[in-house]
This record gives sequence, C-alpha cells and structure tokens, in this order.
Amino acid sequence: MTQVNPKGKIALVSGANRGIGKAITEELLAKGAERVYAGARKIETLNELKAQYGDRLVPLQLDVTDQNSIENAASQISDLDILVNNAGVFALGGVFSSQAVPSLKENLDVNVWGLLNLSNAVIDPLRKENETAIINISSVAGLGNMPMAATYSVSKAAVHSLTQGMRAELANNNTLVMGVYPGPIDTDMAAGVDMEKESPQNVAKAIVAGLSEGSEDIYPDPMSNQVGQFYAGNPKAVEQQFAGFTG
Ligand SMILES: NC(=O)c1ccc[n+]([C@@H]2O[C@H](COP(=O)([O-])OP(=O)(O)OC[C@H]3O[C@@H](n4cnc5c(N)ncnc54)[C@H](OP(=O)(O)O)[C@@H]3O)[C@@H](O)[C@H]2O)c1
Repeated sequence: MTQVNPKGKIALVSGANRGIGKAITEELLAKGAERVYAGARKIETLNELKAQYGDRLVPLQLDVTDQNSIENAASQISDLDILVNNAGVFALGGVFSSQAVPSLKENLDVNVWGLLNLSNAVIDPLRKENETAIINISSVAGLGNMPMAATYSVSKAAVHSLTQGMRAELANNNTLVMGVYPGPIDTDMAAGVDMEKESPQNVAKAIVAGLSEGSEDIYPDPMSNQVGQFYAGNPKAVEQQFAGFTG
C-alpha cells in the first residue's frame, strides 16, 4: 500500500479556481505541500489564490479539452508528486433525450478525454518520483446510472474504469491511484440539485487525509458513504436506487 504524506510534495490540480478543486488546492497547501500548480481555463481566476499563497502557488492556464494548453502547462512542470484530475462538467441529458448526443460529447470531452490527456502529459515527471499519487474525481453517479444525468454517469463510470486501469499499470511504481466518488457537494455544479450537500472543504479534507492513509476509494460525504457500502455488497441495489432519480 502506498501512503503519500502531502508535506513537501508538489501537486497539480485541474480546475483549481473554484469548487472542489480550489478546496483541494488549499487543503494540500494547509497540510504542507511545497507547491501546487493550479490549473484554470482563465488564469486570472487564480489571482486571489496567488495573492494568498505567493510562490507556493503556480497559476497555469489549463483547458483540458485543448491539447496545446495541456502541453504548455505540462512543459512548465519538471517535478510532480500528486496529480489531481478534478476539472469536470455536468452536462444534463438522458439516453433518449434530445440532449443525449451533445451532452455525452461534452461530458466525455472534459471528464474523460481531458483526464486521460492531462494524465499522459504529466506521467513522466510523476513516474520518476517515489511515493506519488493520482487522484481522479469520479462521482457516485459513476457507480450506477442516474437517469436525470445519464450521459454524465457514463463519463464518470469511464473515470472509475480509467482509475482501475491506472492503478494496475502503476502497481509497481509506488503510486497511490485514488478514485473519489462524491455525492452532492455544495459547489456551482450542484446549484440546481435539491439535496443535502457536503461542503467542498470537507471533501478536500477527506481526500488529503486519504493520501496519508493510502486510501484507494474515497466516499467523502454521508450520501456517498452509504452508496459506497451498498456498492460493496450489492451493486444492483445502487442501480435500482438511482433508477428513481429521474429529475
Ligand atoms: N458538486 C458535486 O455535487 C459533485 C459531485 C460528484 C462529483 N463532482 C466532480 O467534482 C469535480 C469538481 O466539480 P465542482 O463541484 O467543483 O464543480 P464546479 O464548481 O462547477 O467547478 C468545475 C471546475 O472544472 C473546471 N473546468 C470545466 N471545464 C474545464 C476544462 N475544459 N478545462 C479545465 N477546467 C475545466 C471549471 O473551470 P471554469 O471556472 O473555467 O469553468 C471549474 O474550475 C468534477 O469532476 C465533478 O464532476 C462534483
């Protein structure tokens, strides 16, 4: 089991300007990370974080759907211990809705292709360090399809599978590959979701604590904790429960 103490580590966080990504960035710095490369599509949205953390925070222009942007960002990173694949979108669409194709494309472009391309762009610096981590933010919706957001679920199931694939490929590399499966979290993304929500700060705390504990799967809030327990014993029960979420 690989345990990764964030103290003194160098991290890259995609979508670091708001929501869960911002909270993870701040929690890593609070727990002693030496430097965080903070990726954002609009670099100026990182001004506040930069002013707060100075040299320990390096703003990077990073659009995970743009290969040039990914390569430019990666070219600035020579040392890397922790990659956080957080950037994501929540494009609504059911399988038989008029939004099926465009929403699946948008969800896959950012949540899946973006994660895959960014991971490949920075795997070399990560591979050469000892005691490293890749953190992929999936969702409970990746463990069972939520019909109100069916194509989002497809993308997060793909993130779950990519996480398993990365873990297998990096098994001899002393790399912790962590999958994170949040339920509803109080960020802009879930503004329209009428459910009890966990704070992004508590999600970040669970993730960063999980690094030191060597946790491969993180269920960072009460709802996901319950789903995680169900999923471990009876994945069909998760499918059946989520089938009721038709929006
Ligand atoms: N909130 C929830 O209930 C919940 C539950 C389960 C999983 N998640 C997952 O948690 C992650 C973070 O979500 P959040 O709740 O923090 O959402 P959020 O507040 O909407 O933030 C999304 C972040 O992703 C960035 N992003 C979007 N498209 C991008 C692109 N093409 N390239 C780079 N960055 C991009 C956004 O940048 P801009 O500011 O430029 O748009 C923003 O920083 C996502 O992967 C999401 O699917 C969230």
